[in-house]
Amino acid sequence: MAILSILNFNNPILRQKAKRVRTVDGSLQKLIGDMVDTMRAANGVGLAAPQVGISLRVAVIQTSEEEEEEVIVLINPEIVKRSGTRLVGEGCLSLPGYKGEIPRSLSVTVKARDRQGKEFRIKGADLLAQALEHEIDHLNGTLFFDHLDSLDKLQRIESRPPAAPEETLPQ
Ligand code: NI
Repeated sequence: MAILSILNFNNPILRQKAKRVRTVDGSLQKLIGDMVDTMRAANGVGLAAPQVGISLRVAVIQTSEEEEEEVIVLINPEIVKRSGTRLVGEGCLSLPGYKGEIPRSLSVTVKARDRQGKEFRIKGADLLAQALEHEIDHLNGTLFFDHLDSLDKLQRIESRPPAAPEETLPQ
């Protein structure tokens, strides 16, 4: 297990459409384990493989801070149903210190494979629906601020450590 470094939003890997996983093997299991460690170390709700420089359709989600809470592992996830919309405050580990208010579905159903490669479906509402959409967006090269009308609407998070470089803002 290892903590991987998380790419910044301006890395071109984050703009690629990630490739489908063909085989669930030992190296994929290791990547998933490392992604879970990395997500937890960063206090994130989710993490997608492109964020650690691997352009594969893999993401992990944990909506509760409880360590024993099961992590949702998504391999080749696809949204099969969405319903409703709401405006939510959202951020991303690849753009630390900022958030924006964007529309997300009230509930989504996702079809994916789990860490053993077995197909499953998950229906999520509220924060889980948001996390599912956010992480699957990453696999398609989309970042949350793409859903804003204008980047002027990005808000600085108050608790950000001092000396935030202005050049970290997307152009
Ligand atoms: Ni993100």
